[in-house]
Amino acid sequence: MSKGRIFSGVQPTGNLHLGNYLGAIRNWVALQSDFESIYCVVDLHAVTVPQDPAALRQSTREVAASLIASGIDTKTAILFNQSQVKEHAELGWLFNCVARLGWLNRMTQFKEKAGKNRENATVGLYSYPTLMAADILAYCATHVPVGEDQKQHLELTRDIAMSFNSMFGVEFFPQPEPLIQGTAARVMSLRNGTSKMSKSDESDFTRINLTDDVDLIASKLKKAKTDPEPLPSEIDGLADRPEARNLVGIYAGLSGRTEADILSEFGGQGFGVFKPALADLTISVISPISEKMNALLKDETEIDQILADGAERARAISAPILAEVKDIMGFVAK
Ligand code: TRP
Repeated sequence: MSKGRIFSGVQPTGNLHLGNYLGAIRNWVALQSDFESIYCVVDLHAVTVPQDPAALRQSTREVAASLIASGIDTKTAILFNQSQVKEHAELGWLFNCVARLGWLNRMTQFKEKAGKNRENATVGLYSYPTLMAADILAYCATHVPVGEDQKQHLELTRDIAMSFNSMFGVEFFPQPEPLIQGTAARVMSLRNGTSKMSKSDESDFTRINLTDDVDLIASKLKKAKTDPEPLPSEIDGLADRPEARNLVGIYAGLSGRTEADILSEFGGQGFGVFKPALADLTISVISPISEKMNALLKDETEIDQILADGAERARAISAPILAEVKDIMGFVAK
């Protein structure tokens, strides 16, 4: 089994969609057989921007349910929500005293999220990356599956690890390696092939949600934007056809085949043939997940129990690591 220890985090947001599934969730499921895997719903990160408490609770359970329904095996992999393991916040503070203002000032995600009114951003949003470093290093994780957008935060994590080691003259923290989730898995809006599929797009017809039923999936794909040309037989033929490329990409992602392979099957055919085939495939993958997810969400106590159990197992790893960190830094403890 173990090629190392993975840690990854996902924000508790509602409306998980096909983009989340192909971009991240499915990857997490695949990695769990090769790595010791720790997956975390990052509720402490969520509150760096205002949250409605009831919605946060619901989203946390929804994300957990989607991961379980998609095949995360919570008997082997650890799945929990961040706030139940206090070591994250504690190590986050310690890292606030390692990371430098100059490092955080370079973070592009803060600039984007804070927007024009930076004075009004929370201090938590600014120090978001130090908490993320704490998430990873509280487990001395060796590998971190993340999207391209999180690469800079992972580099900061490596800087913090290295800086801690050299400040205290130890070889304590490893340098965690990013496992970048491929851009091939980037799923675009069904209505605009140049913008990313997003939970916040006002039209629900731009995305396939993991909770959509069979009929809704079929009708969303039927109405997906396309062009009048038949599909090309070669990938080059998709160059200026973002919507066609997106649908072929989704087909490839869901079937585990290459785009070239899909085009060799469907090249020369129109969308009247391709769309129903894509709908059948999407339904065959997503429907079992949405059924399981909806069933899980009916019983909150089961999800809560899984998260509590995951938190306990997570703490068993992170608590001794934190105790060592505190000892290295010179804190008195019995
Ligand atoms: N910042 C990540 C995101 O928005 C989520 C996250 C928090 C994370 N802590 C992490 C990802 C630790 C990987 C490792 O997607």
